[in-house]
Amino acid sequence: MGKPLNIGLIGYGFMGRTHSNAYSQVTHFFDVPYTPVLKTVCGLEEDKAKAFAEQWGYASYTTDWRKVIEDESIDVVDVCVPNNMHAEIAIAAAQAGKAILCEKPLAMNAAQGREMVQAVEKAKVANLVSFNYRRVPAVTLAKQLIDSGRLGRIFHYRANFLQDWTISAKVPQGGMATWRLDVKAAGSGVVGDLLAHCIDTAMWHNGRIGEVCAVTETFVKERLNVDTGKVEPVGIDDACTFLCRFDNGSLGNFESTRYARGHKALYTFEINGEHASIAWDLHDLHRLEYFDHRDESIVRGWRSIHVTDADMPYMDKWWVPGLQIGYEHTFVHQAADFLSGMASGKPAGPTFREALETQCVCDTVLASAAERAWKKVSY
Ligand SMILES: NC(=O)c1ccc[n+]([C@@H]2O[C@H](COP(=O)([O-])OP(=O)(O)OC[C@H]3O[C@@H](n4cnc5c(N)ncnc54)[C@H](O)[C@@H]3O)[C@@H](O)[C@H]2O)c1
Repeated sequence: MGKPLNIGLIGYGFMGRTHSNAYSQVTHFFDVPYTPVLKTVCGLEEDKAKAFAEQWGYASYTTDWRKVIEDESIDVVDVCVPNNMHAEIAIAAAQAGKAILCEKPLAMNAAQGREMVQAVEKAKVANLVSFNYRRVPAVTLAKQLIDSGRLGRIFHYRANFLQDWTISAKVPQGGMATWRLDVKAAGSGVVGDLLAHCIDTAMWHNGRIGEVCAVTETFVKERLNVDTGKVEPVGIDDACTFLCRFDNGSLGNFESTRYARGHKALYTFEINGEHASIAWDLHDLHRLEYFDHRDESIVRGWRSIHVTDADMPYMDKWWVPGLQIGYEHTFVHQAADFLSGMASGKPAGPTFREALETQCVCDTVLASAAERAWKKVSY
């Protein structure tokens, strides 16, 4: 059993559940240097915070996030609230000397992200941003294949993240369930919410993006804001497509929308190299598609690698070869890597500083769309 580490979770929604599950599971499967203790959970509504604490085993609950920061027994502050609150909470947590696990995107924009980086680096506290798709074993395997040189020179990186849940003009903005449509809470639409994932994975796989050319669209221009009770202009991007050039000379092609009827969360990428290509699809997340031109022509073709063997990333910690794992496990991997990084002094990524690079690309994509021009990313 590792040393106890008291967790203060802020936000008991979708991500609050995935992170709580990860803290509960991680020591059962991974040999980690700390044992997370679910100390306190914070959320806006008291009855929900209480029910969450009872269901997940938190010792206490509160509706005031500052109480979590002031609590000297808390070691880790886990930020699972809407994007407009990440900076204020993370900076306060850093100043109080807490380790921080913060949900993505890092911030509302790069300027705010820089303040967060300064705060955690000044306080020298452990910090990680929850770009969890890096920790799908097939996505980690893709990184290993690229780093090993199997693909050779990379020519193309293509990624999509498609959803269809905001097509109806009756979907409101604001409030607890639909804050993602309110620019004041979300900062942006699909760029910060969905493309940020694609950009994080892409730059992890393929290096920095140097310049971008983007187009965005807001298909439904006005929606009821449930916070104000008024019909108000929609300030977020409903869809975005961008082209880019990576520093290694390869070309990128990214698309995200919440208007692709029939798709709920279709995150896919394909990478084409000189010798080989790889492709991945979140709906089939335990498989990695691989094509190698060096194979003998009579057997050459796309192969579907079932990423379950013990020599594949993370898989020795789970069941037996042939039995796959799923979405929630990416957060268990994240918790394991975060805890191990805290003890080893080799922090798990992306740290706030690394996630700031994704934020810089997101800002540049939005600026490019607004100015209808190619823009260089300044990091
Ligand atoms: N890594 C991923 O794949 C992923 C997926 C979904 C969401 N996210 C990110 O996680 C964050 C939370 O998203 P979600 O889907 O869990 O949201 P959610 O709407 O399900 O939950 C938000 C939570 O924040 C709490 N909250 C809001 N304002 C608060 C305040 N002032 N004080 C205390 N608590 C407050 C609410 O009570 C609620 O519990 C966002 O930044 C989002 O971008 C990441």
